[in-house]
Amino acid sequence: MTLSEEKLKYFIHTYGCQMNIHDSEKIAGILESMGYFSTDQVEDADVVVFNTCCIRETAEQKIYGHIGAIKKLKRAKPDLIAVVCGCMSQQEGVAEKIRTSYPFVDIVLGTSNLDALRDAILSAQKKKKVFNVEFSRYREEDFTQSRTSYPNAWVNINYGCNNFCTYCIVPYVRGRERSRPLDDVLEEVKQLLADGYKEITLLGQNVNSYGHDLEGNVTFAALLHNIGSLPGKFRLRFMTSHPKDLSQEVIDAIAAHPNICNNIHLPVQSGSTEILRRMNRRYTRDDYFALIDKIRAKLPDVGITTDIMVGFPGETEKDFCDTLDLVKHVKYSSAFCFVYSRRKGTPAYSMEDQVPYAIKKDRITRLLACQNEVTKEISQKMVGQNYEVLVEGANFRYENTMCGRTESGRLVNFKCDESNIGQFVTVKIERASSATLWGSITEEK
Ligand code: SAH
Ligand code: SF4
Ligand code: F3S
Repeated sequence: MTLSEEKLKYFIHTYGCQMNIHDSEKIAGILESMGYFSTDQVEDADVVVFNTCCIRETAEQKIYGHIGAIKKLKRAKPDLIAVVCGCMSQQEGVAEKIRTSYPFVDIVLGTSNLDALRDAILSAQKKKKVFNVEFSRYREEDFTQSRTSYPNAWVNINYGCNNFCTYCIVPYVRGRERSRPLDDVLEEVKQLLADGYKEITLLGQNVNSYGHDLEGNVTFAALLHNIGSLPGKFRLRFMTSHPKDLSQEVIDAIAAHPNICNNIHLPVQSGSTEILRRMNRRYTRDDYFALIDKIRAKLPDVGITTDIMVGFPGETEKDFCDTLDLVKHVKYSSAFCFVYSRRKGTPAYSMEDQVPYAIKKDRITRLLACQNEVTKEISQKMVGQNYEVLVEGANFRYENTMCGRTESGRLVNFKCDESNIGQFVTVKIERASSATLWGSITEEK
């Protein structure tokens, strides 16, 4: 084979949340339709994509470091095409910064114009740079995705966000909330099930407000009923639920359909009503507790997970203790805990009383320890019990070990082989170290 006949290859660096993981599947689909093949060695790639995140400063700095490293690769391989897309490139001034400080980058695209990637690559092949962060409202149906998460498939239901929590950059980089038509979502899900996917995860920054911008009375609960009624054995998950918009109808829909998982990701952010007010979350500590009670009354086995932030401007020791107290009472099956990071352009950036780093660090340590105790307690209670688990993939750290989740979302490790991926099995939990569960497949239900 001569050099020119060698396959062209792409490598995608994906940072950030599930939205980005799923967008990378779309990017891969576009590149594959152009004849590129995936490689897991960045040195072999002809196209390197950075699908970026800017939710916190630490994420951003790491990414700039990785982009910088491409300079050397490009010197060795002048035809290499470097693409920066995703949330970071949509921030004010970033495209300009890349143009001047990272001149070896060929393409900058935003979060809502992935459909422009094909033409941008064609231009870059002719050494023409493309910097385009316009919103274009592409239709997902217009290109094939290259899915990488079998037996799970991600499905976008709404894009963007209208909530403007005062700390958060997402509404600025992902734009206003737009819902996909219900029939489009339903068609995609039906096709995925026909293709053999066993778990569908609906994605949105706030799935609960799905439909408010569509004609007719389309709601998230209606979407759940539609998908939940589809035939066949599969699991339906969704994220993220904003507490202010989680309706009784949604809780009822989860209860009504056995294939909708008893698992809700319900970010609380803080346990202090005053901090929640200044975050513009639009619920109080009491509202949140009342919602938890409402959920558990209808779904006693539900696994509730959350996101929590420490060190928001003005957070006092008392506010923080309110968060610890909430964590002890709600008993989340797991919590993603973050240190508040100042994001330029958001209201909280210029709030007074920014919390010193040493205090943030102390609080995150205490918060993690607190949640760890809760997780341990829940895990211990699971030992000896049987759970239905979908075999999702290999745990490469151990031989012949696969992992999968219970309906409530807890990850379990057990022995079996890759041929079982995509099957539902019953696993008896045998031991638990705080967050990790170990078990073995059993015939009993
Ligand atoms: N739409 C989701 C959250 C998306 S961002 C929701 O409303 O819940 C994921 C998580 O990152 C947030 O829940 C929050 O806990 C955290 N986060 C967002 N902005 C942040 C910031 N500036 N600093 C630290 N953590 C942040
Ligand atoms: Fe950010 Fe708030 Fe929107 Fe979530 S709901 S994406 S935290 S602004
Ligand atoms: Fe997600 Fe990061 Fe963007 S968390 S929406 S990839 S800023």
